[in-house]
Amino acid sequence: MNERPTTVVTFGTFDVFHVGHLRVVQRAAALGDRLVVGVSADALNVRKKGRAPVFSEAERMEIVRSLKPVHEVFLEESLEQKRDYLLEHHADVLVMGDDWAGKFDEFEDICRVVYLPRTPAISTTALIEKISDMGS
Ligand code: CTP
Repeated sequence: MNERPTTVVTFGTFDVFHVGHLRVVQRAAALGDRLVVGVSADALNVRKKGRAPVFSEAERMEIVRSLKPVHEVFLEESLEQKRDYLLEHHADVLVMGDDWAGKFDEFEDICRVVYLPRTPAISTTALIEKISDMGS
């Protein structure tokens, strides 16, 4: 019997790529057969975090696309389009970091929603601050 492959979808900025990003990608991929990653657009980051990412959306997509567990990437242009993205990419599982715990339960009608614990003590914001401090 040929079963349809399980598609996992996750989202993120993945700016100044670090080991916390790698681990969430690896753990998300382990929940299915195909991992599709929505990389958030530069303009969305400006709206969401009040600053542009260090690396452009094209560069961030290129890095994430090159990771062994990633099958496909797409540009996430709007937070309001999550449901459309999930349907378009045939998501069976949505993976988010547990900093979003409970916030995406509304999508349980179309896919399984899993929140993974973040890797402790590392973030893009902390890395940018650390690197900036080195120069002062
Ligand atoms: N992530 C993680 N562990 C970390 C940092 C991020 O598991 N220490 C996960 C997030 O939960 C998310 C994905 O990596 O699923 C992309 O997160 P992103 O917001 O791009 O990375 P951060 O390092 O959290 O960035 P920032 O500091 O700008 O919020």
